[in-house]
Amino acid sequence: MSAHIYRGLEGVAFAKTALSEVDGAAGRVTIRGYDLRDLAGKVTFDDIVGLLFQGDLPTPSGRDALAASIREAVTLPFAASAALSRAVAADPMDALRAAAAALPSPSETNAATAISLIGGVAGMITDHHRLRLSEITPPEAPEERSTAAFLLHGVLGRTPTIAQTRALDAYLVTMSEHGMNASTFVARCVISTDSDMVSALTAAIASLKGPRHGGVPGPLLHDLLAIGETSRIEPWVRAQVAQKKRILGFGHRVYKVRDPRAEVLAEAAGELAQTDKEKALLQFVQDFDAITSAVLAEIKPTHKLFVNVELYAALILHLLGIPADLFTPLFAAGRTAGWCAHMIEQHGDNRLIHPEVSYVGARGREI
Ligand SMILES: CC(C)(COP(=O)(O)OP(=O)(O)OC[C@H]1O[C@@H](n2cnc3c(N)ncnc32)[C@H](O)[C@@H]1OP(=O)(O)O)[C@@H](O)C(=O)NCCC(=O)NCCS
Repeated sequence: MSAHIYRGLEGVAFAKTALSEVDGAAGRVTIRGYDLRDLAGKVTFDDIVGLLFQGDLPTPSGRDALAASIREAVTLPFAASAALSRAVAADPMDALRAAAAALPSPSETNAATAISLIGGVAGMITDHHRLRLSEITPPEAPEERSTAAFLLHGVLGRTPTIAQTRALDAYLVTMSEHGMNASTFVARCVISTDSDMVSALTAAIASLKGPRHGGVPGPLLHDLLAIGETSRIEPWVRAQVAQKKRILGFGHRVYKVRDPRAEVLAEAAGELAQTDKEKALLQFVQDFDAITSAVLAEIKPTHKLFVNVELYAALILHLLGIPADLFTPLFAAGRTAGWCAHMIEQHGDNRLIHPEVSYVGARGREI
């Protein structure tokens, strides 16, 4: 029997969700009914955790309680710490995957497990970074209680400014949840087998890593720094396209207009850029955005290739002073919230995810 083939499962819905809605035609994303443009810059990542797992934005004291619960989970179990030590020389995304796999399997698929995994991922990223620098994390200031401030402190090794914490919050909120995508689908597939949230998290981290999904911003920053000046952007883009290479940070399976997350992060980067050098870099990235959009529209007019979230994600993380190989782990830190919310949703109304393939191989062979 040959079934109709939906390559890449494009346009196929397999479940209902109340978590987020991605409108690819209008260029709009909402999380539990709130437009992302209204959330980012106004609420913190810890607020989004409350929104995803409790259904509503928490009160200030509720947010602080959530942040405290996340902070309790950043201290890793021995097996995960040992995995990080063994992976000290590894790429941070590989180390994160190894340490996640070493977490003990939780018995419950619920919000409490989700909170412990959000804290665990933050702890794994910062512990691995300090380990590879052979540095102990310096003591935190008492006001550094949010998850964004914790991450920045662990990565930068110093107390972040309010502006830096605000910018990382905007980034984590923006990355926290985004409908169905490869890593979220993977997480739901694992849970659909009645497996556990650590297994689903490990699989989701593995699938985020690829350069068609979350592995983009580090190499994209490398491209931007190599191009270096506005006059070299257009010839570079044309050469890439001529060699059939994809321009990182452009194109999206769902958005056929500009990715709304790009505007949110561009605005946050604009607030963060204060020195002449930072403002010049922001202008260069905006030039890259405009020139690449124009060249792609000219060369591939029917493909509808617009900027996606990763261009300004790379910029904002770079402006924060974060090393490029931590860009994808930090994406995972934010998206762990969305992954876990989808795991709980799948678990609550589960049907084993079991698509088909259409067999086109040989038949009737004899030995
Ligand atoms: C994100 C992405 C995987 C979505 O792609 P998709 O929906 O699977 O689209 P397809 O792979 O079917 O590509 C459709 C066409 O657009 C082209 N295309 C897609 N993204 C492109 C890009 N960034 N640069 C140049 N051409 C691109 C493809 O080459 C293909 O052209 P063809 O039909 O002439 O061969 C793709 O746009 C991409 O690889 N972008 C670059 C990586 C990136 O930024 N990823 C982060 C996503 S948030």
